[in-house]
Amino acid sequence: MIKPYLKDFKPYPPGKPIEELRRELGIEGKIVKLASNENPFGPSPKAKEAIIAAASELHRYPDAGAYNLRTALAQKFQVHYEEIVLGNGSNEVLELLVKALIDYEDEALMSEPSFLMYEKFVQASGGQITKIPLKNFRHDLANFTKKVSQKTKIIFLDNPHNPTGSIIYHHDFERFIKDLPENIVVVLDEAYREFNEDPEIANGLLLKDGKPPVVTLRTFSKAYGLAALRIGYGIMKKELAMVLNAIRQPFNVNLLAQVAAEAALKDEDYLAGILKTFSSERKKLFKALEELGFEPYPSQANFILVNTKKEARPLYEALLRKGVIVRSMEAYGFPTCLRISIGTPEENEFFLARLKEVLSGA
Ligand SMILES: Cc1ncc(COP(=O)(O)O)c(C=O)c1O
Repeated sequence: MIKPYLKDFKPYPPGKPIEELRRELGIEGKIVKLASNENPFGPSPKAKEAIIAAASELHRYPDAGAYNLRTALAQKFQVHYEEIVLGNGSNEVLELLVKALIDYEDEALMSEPSFLMYEKFVQASGGQITKIPLKNFRHDLANFTKKVSQKTKIIFLDNPHNPTGSIIYHHDFERFIKDLPENIVVVLDEAYREFNEDPEIANGLLLKDGKPPVVTLRTFSKAYGLAALRIGYGIMKKELAMVLNAIRQPFNVNLLAQVAAEAALKDEDYLAGILKTFSSERKKLFKALEELGFEPYPSQANFILVNTKKEARPLYEALLRKGVIVRSMEAYGFPTCLRISIGTPEENEFFLARLKEVLSGA
């Protein structure tokens, strides 16, 4: 029989795919998707070359230990190779952490809202979830401290936070960690870290071996433009990494993902160029949204949460009819907001032009 706590389980609501919108609304012209915080510029050309070169090896299983990629990551972050766990997206590393740390009825703490997969993985394992409301669109660390109980095993913090784009400052994070019991693992999910421009952002790597230990999660899905290949990683103290590497599937990260990620990681110039464009586009989009009378929240990620000051669903749907997919925020508890991923300059122009048409009733 199905476990009782899985009965009301709802699937993760992904951003609407372009082809689905085309089919549903019969749109033939251009469609721009600004809904899943992807990198619209795509990965480094070197990543694509690496994939083509690796195609001749498709009949072999990949390196289960992903030695080359883990060595490159270890060098970049100045950590030990054995402290890195790769996953089929950072999502898988999240899942492995829950598997390793949450027993039936153990508890995980997370903000309300935050990345939806945290609660899904905990629910699926029969664990308990305690949600701490955001305060002024930021993680309320003081309230997390108050809510910690004997059963708390993991604290999830997305930094930058999804969907607001706000960040935790390092001095606040250090103070927070100091007050926690030692048997908790704090997961700092840095899926959007590369887009951050604030030097005061928390640095989980410095606290990797602390008490309690901090796990830092990163992904190749966002700034590195490899979302389709599904590859992410966690950096954590060796004892924990060894457990995660022991319970994962041996070939959880495929060959193409491994070689593309390594090539993308090493192409630092390409990444720097992309990040520069994201930065200027984020500023441009923020200003344009303000000028339209909306309230965008300052973001250190590749998306902007914007308060439209009234129920946002009609606007979301009107944009769909005009070929623009953004993310509605009902599932995150922000019914007056939309989350807009930063696109290419052309995509952002297209979005703003369609938005202005909708607002003027055209
Ligand atoms: C905060 C956060 N963490 C993790 C992920 C998962 O990324 P992936 O599994 O593609 O590495 C996402 C994806 O949207 C995210 O927003």
